[in-house]
Amino acid sequence: MCGIVGYIGDKDAFPILIKGLHRLEYRGYDSAGVALLNNKGELHIFKTKGKVNNLEKYCSDKDVSGNIGIAHTRWATHGEPSDINAHPHYSQSKDIALIHNGIIENYLSLKQFLKDKGYIFKSETDTEVLVQLIEYVKKEHKLSLYDAVQRALSQVIGAYAIGVIERQNPNVLIAARKGSPLIIGVGEGEYFLGSDASPIIEYTNKVVYVGDEEVVRMEKDREMEIRNLSDSVIVPEITELQMDLSEIEKGGYPHFMLKEIFEQPRALSLCMNGRVHEELKEIKLSGIIDHIDRFRNARRILISACGTSWHAGLIGKYLFEQFCRIPVEVEVASEFRYRNPVIFPNDVMIAISQSGETADTLAAIELAKSKGAFIYGVCNVVGSSIARATDTGTYTHAGPEIGVASTKAFTTQVAVLAMMVFAIGRELGTVKQDEYEKLVTELAFIKNKIEEILALKDSIESMSKVFTYAKNFIYLGRGFNYPVAMEGALKLKEISYIHAEGYPAAEMKHGPIALIDEEMPIVVIAPKFAMYDKILSNVQEVKARNGRIISIVTKGDTQIKALSDFVIEIPETIECLSPLLTIIPLQMLSYYVAVAKGRNVDQPRNLAKSVTVE
Ligand code: M6R
Repeated sequence: MCGIVGYIGDKDAFPILIKGLHRLEYRGYDSAGVALLNNKGELHIFKTKGKVNNLEKYCSDKDVSGNIGIAHTRWATHGEPSDINAHPHYSQSKDIALIHNGIIENYLSLKQFLKDKGYIFKSETDTEVLVQLIEYVKKEHKLSLYDAVQRALSQVIGAYAIGVIERQNPNVLIAARKGSPLIIGVGEGEYFLGSDASPIIEYTNKVVYVGDEEVVRMEKDREMEIRNLSDSVIVPEITELQMDLSEIEKGGYPHFMLKEIFEQPRALSLCMNGRVHEELKEIKLSGIIDHIDRFRNARRILISACGTSWHAGLIGKYLFEQFCRIPVEVEVASEFRYRNPVIFPNDVMIAISQSGETADTLAAIELAKSKGAFIYGVCNVVGSSIARATDTGTYTHAGPEIGVASTKAFTTQVAVLAMMVFAIGRELGTVKQDEYEKLVTELAFIKNKIEEILALKDSIESMSKVFTYAKNFIYLGRGFNYPVAMEGALKLKEISYIHAEGYPAAEMKHGPIALIDEEMPIVVIAPKFAMYDKILSNVQEVKARNGRIISIVTKGDTQIKALSDFVIEIPETIECLSPLLTIIPLQMLSYYVAVAKGRNVDQPRNLAKSVTVE
């Protein structure tokens, strides 16, 4: 979704802003722009449809001097992607420039009000309404920019993260946030603004996470000031980013997605570090230790998430019900939030999100909270909105995930859920000590088995090239691997644009079987567990209709292998942890199919990395 960058200090702002925009490209966008205040007292806006490279080209013969500026990548919501709709937007007098991430829900009534006051609008965006409103309020009440932003925002309904600069005020950068992410980097007498840490990390690791309804005033060589919309003064809390630059660079890989697939053993190590104690055969999660009674007394667990995180949540259901015997409901957050669900005060909601900024998941949390449920977060991004909205939780510590298609976020989410379940199950007595020890040991060493699968890279790559012809794929799995089938299908459709669906294998005969012919690739996830014979029958049904079978089987398998056109063998493991292995070849398959089709793997069309609008 939209990305925000800002700078105020002694340095040239333009290169910092452009580099920052490049760092935010992964979020997904369709236009880009920059506003700069130079030392002649001019406020220039340059913006173009398309990629940041276009913007750079467009600016190559322009005056891009100045030590204060704001920049933006836009993911269109109100109005098509175009030069005019791109941010920043000027106010009517062209004295104020503003960038915005989020949606102003009451923009139409505000627009009409401003039109009646003589304001003329150039774009179709809700953002232009905001900059005009700030100017109107400023003039009408003779306020400073800081006060005008605060006053204007109190009239706004919706979500925003904004950066604002003013021609007459070359030393001041104003920012504010509600619902959309915003971070301030604190340098030596300078400040940086970012939708996340990636445009900031190479300059400073000291950051302030702007809170909801907070307005920030930054001035070179002065302490920042923060006030909220109720006019209370907020003391900025400076925290240190635990992240280094190499984590957001490709490190020799052609794509972030491939890097992130290969990072999974390390991501799982970091995720389990200090939590899974193999030598003691024990799992320690502070979020669980401190709140075990909430789980002990839970009437039910609700899991709410979107996309890949929802798939991890579905695996969570299988885990919780098998090992803790607590009933679990899993629902995509966008449905949950609007269907008036029954929520009890002794429910526990587990909210799962890589970015920690997904608007629907955040809204589901607020709803559950309002009914008294206890909220446990499973997030990757430290300090994110969801992490802060939850009562407690466990970070996945996967490190920054830049590729739009989630990979290491998924495996670390599943690992966190497994850790939670084993720890809770042991406390509740539903997991016996010998079983617990076996589970802990398998989890601790699963990363080595992932390494073995990653070593199959070349054969998976050459197999993938065979399937570039396909228009559709079906993925089949059962039990713990049914959500993996859905996740494998999502990966393929996101980055290769091939239609794919994941089904519980036995459901195939209730409809999808009609699609099978000699053209149709069927990916069958069939490791050797209790349901093996059942899934073998499903494979035979596919074979009888000449489908092309790609199977994921346990090493040494003979029966399903004999029926398959292509086979990928994975090491033996415990069934409940098998998703951590079976998903790996599916991620690789999607990646290599997409590369063979020449797709933009890291920034697939129409998709955004963090979906901050509903
Ligand atoms: O940041 P979140 O985990 O909350 O994001 C949820 C989905 O938007 C996300 O998983 C999306 O489906 C990914 N593109 C999947 O690869």
